[in-house]
Amino acid sequence: MDFIKIDISGPVAVITIDRRDALNALSPQVLDELSQALDEVNTEGIRAVIMTGAGKKAFAAGADIKEFPSFTPLQAQDFALKGQALSKKIEAFPKPVIAAINGFALGGGCELALACHMRIAAETAKIGQPEVNLGVMTGFGGSQRLPRLVGKGVALELLTTGRAIDAKEALRIGLVNAVAAPDELLPACQEIAEQIAEKAPQAVALTLEAVNHGLEMSLEEGLNLEARLFALTFTTEDMQEGTQAFLEKRKPKFTGK
Ligand code: COA
Repeated sequence: MDFIKIDISGPVAVITIDRRDALNALSPQVLDELSQALDEVNTEGIRAVIMTGAGKKAFAAGADIKEFPSFTPLQAQDFALKGQALSKKIEAFPKPVIAAINGFALGGGCELALACHMRIAAETAKIGQPEVNLGVMTGFGGSQRLPRLVGKGVALELLTTGRAIDAKEALRIGLVNAVAAPDELLPACQEIAEQIAEKAPQAVALTLEAVNHGLEMSLEEGLNLEARLFALTFTTEDMQEGTQAFLEKRKPKFTGK
């Protein structure tokens, strides 16, 4: 892979977009490599993933604008579908994916972060959907995921003005879960990832499924789904181990089985 680095330390994988001369802009090749990287870290030993950008300046400054002028409408649609497929793959990933937003997360970069299960921003981050400045609109899911995360009114303001917000505002509107000093960003994400890594992997994966699918359903259907997934956890060895460990007043040793 030319633009993606994978660093594995114990149960945590860090996927880094490394195309610094273009502020980690998302060309079709970068999107393909990100998808490949997710496949590579979808192994039993990995329990959580951190996604970030190389350098101090950008998480990803958006889709690669240099590709745009030559696109036909059909090529533009294919590009949007490629970005959306990657966003869906991140969202449906069976291990939590944490976006470590280390700088600009604009356009497609913001949309990738929105597809992650949680977001932590450096104090220096700038986040936004500036597509309207270019005469285009979001294509990787921003018009759908941003309102679901921050509410329709705030999302529409950001989407129609193209205004980029700082980390403090992102925290206030619920776009990010927490803000960290730039040097503390990866350690903060690592700490969350390690907490997750200590839990029962299937219970974590089923929780992701319940929340992701449940939010697209009526409350009644979502509650039904939850009851069925709750029942599924009772088929796992980890459920026996977790409850037994509690009763024996010891720390559980989860195996993912
Ligand atoms: N696509 C392609 N290249 C990009 C890019 C993008 N989305 N964002 C930045 N780059 C490139 C620049 O063209 C520049 O390349 P060059 O050195 O070959 O000219 C390099 O990255 C550095 O960017 P530059 O604009 O010089 O940095 P800056 O610090 O002055 O500004 C930004 C940073 C993020 C404000 C500015 O790059 C920007 O507005 N980028 C586009 C953001 C955007 O609209 N994204 C949505 C796309 S749909």
